[in-house]
Amino acid sequence: MNALLEMNDVHASYGQAQALFGMGFDVREGEVVTLLGRNGMGRSTTIKCLFGMLAPSSGSIRLAGKTLAGMPSHGIARLGLGLVPEGRQVFPDLSVEENLVATARAPRHGNANLQAWDLARVYAFFPRLKQRRNNYGWQLSGGEQQMLAIGRALMTNPCLLVLDEATEGLAPIIRQEIWAALAALKKEGLSQIVIDKNVGALMKFADRHFVMEKGRVVWQGGSDQLRAEPAIVQQYMGVA
Ligand SMILES: Nc1ncnc2c1ncn2[C@@H]1O[C@H](COP(=O)(O)OP(=O)(O)OP(=O)(O)O)[C@@H](O)[C@H]1O
Ligand SMILES: [Mg+2]
Repeated sequence: MNALLEMNDVHASYGQAQALFGMGFDVREGEVVTLLGRNGMGRSTTIKCLFGMLAPSSGSIRLAGKTLAGMPSHGIARLGLGLVPEGRQVFPDLSVEENLVATARAPRHGNANLQAWDLARVYAFFPRLKQRRNNYGWQLSGGEQQMLAIGRALMTNPCLLVLDEATEGLAPIIRQEIWAALAALKKEGLSQIVIDKNVGALMKFADRHFVMEKGRVVWQGGSDQLRAEPAIVQQYMGVA
């Protein structure tokens, strides 16, 4: 199967401090993959490199065969990468609806299997957002903000949705809603990269996992393989 996204041997630094040391992973069409690891191992840095927010010093990144490294962020977004950023970053002084239309973009990725997103479809997908359509970003709960961040990314009609800390700081019942939403998106064929600390939830829903340590991948495999190797989870994530 062809890779939708391929990152190979990426090195990246913040000034003098190197954070990625040969990072590489791939996402196939329709697949959900995770980046796992303890705090500070380079997951968000990997995402920053994908989205052109940090320029790698070497290595390659390709989306559907097109080279991303060196492209500006807006160009990368236009190619079909949709980001749900760490901390959600909804616009606090815009209404829910204004947040959603601010990023709206027609699909350009050419994947005819993906049904296009518009305001009506996002509201049908997250009815809570429709109820809150006239509320400002700052008035929303954490769960509503995360739904809005996901809705906003969907409004860009991505071919690959990337979530950095998908359920961080959310109540368990809201987490379940987010996992159900991501599973529904997977079911309709939307490829995803998901970062989260809840390895159990990720194993139920993702296809493949990339475990990071010190800026590179030290283990990769499917959910069944990861389940069969609890020592990996213990060693690299520090949880049983
Ligand atoms: N803006 C920055 N300036 C300097 N160093 C940074 C910056 N952001 C991250 N780092 C460093 O880069 C390394 C990787 O951080 P990164 O944010 O990618 O980790 P992470 O895997 O996303 O972990 P977590 O989100 O749990 O903190 C860490 O050593 C971190 O301290
Ligand atoms: Mg992070």
